[in-house]
Amino acid sequence: MASSLTVANIDAGYGAVRVLEDVSLSVGAGETVALLGTNGNGKSTLMKSIMGIVRPSAGSILAEIDGARHELIGRSTEEIVDLGIAFVPEGRRLFPKQTVTENLLLGAFRPAARSAIRRNLDFCFETFPVLKERARQLAGSMSGGEQQMLALARALMSAPRILLVDEPSVGLAPLLVRRTIDKIKELKDGYNLTVLMAEQNFTQAIRIADRGYVIVHGKIAFAGESAEALNNNDLIREFYLGA
Ligand SMILES: Nc1ncnc2c1ncn2[C@@H]1O[C@H](COP(=O)(O)OP(=O)(O)OP(=O)(O)O)[C@@H](O)[C@H]1O
Ligand SMILES: [Mg+2]
Repeated sequence: MASSLTVANIDAGYGAVRVLEDVSLSVGAGETVALLGTNGNGKSTLMKSIMGIVRPSAGSILAEIDGARHELIGRSTEEIVDLGIAFVPEGRRLFPKQTVTENLLLGAFRPAARSAIRRNLDFCFETFPVLKERARQLAGSMSGGEQQMLALARALMSAPRILLVDEPSVGLAPLLVRRTIDKIKELKDGYNLTVLMAEQNFTQAIRIADRGYVIVHGKIAFAGESAEALNNNDLIREFYLGA
């Protein structure tokens, strides 16, 4: 069943520092939407607001999961994950001294996911053969690309309906960036996910995104209804394409 996300008019920040101002965006059921913006413009703050890590001071964040509607503001991160929303944070945030398998199991704390641990673990190993080969390796000793795969796999262990991915390309060589982005598309199709992906790598993000938003200084500066509309946008040309 369909799952979607609607962020409406949120303000958020850290203490007296206001970062997001009147931000609205939506991710329709089964869509892949890119959140584009260069360093420090508020991409992670928006992702964290959706996950209950940062508390917005105004607005609403509505998730529709398998037909049921939930206001996310005011809920804890655990509750939000439990509803079926998974988050792959910027910089992966793995447990470096735990093995690959242990990291994956830590992704399955959602009650609804616990009963399906074996099945989800098998699916993760099937989708990411490298993780099966490295099941007992410490996460911290894996390469950057492998760690990003592990971070994605861990998010899937909670059997999510909506997946948020914060800058999956960061710190990866171009070939690995391409593979990671391809993997996100494969997961989206395989699990029937709704995806919001923050990226600075415009060219790679737009390969799999249905549409996207450009965030500048904490405000949505442009909403592109298609990859083509984004390609032709002046802000994108200025910030990303060096025109
Ligand atoms: N914990 C924090 N306390 C205070 N200010 C913060 C905190 N986290 C982020 N900020 C500030 O909020 C602004 C937006 O940061 P944010 O991390 O959301 O940007 P971003 O678009 O994700 O950037 P990047 O591409 O570098 O990850 C920045 O000015 C940043 O310094
Ligand atoms: Mg960020």
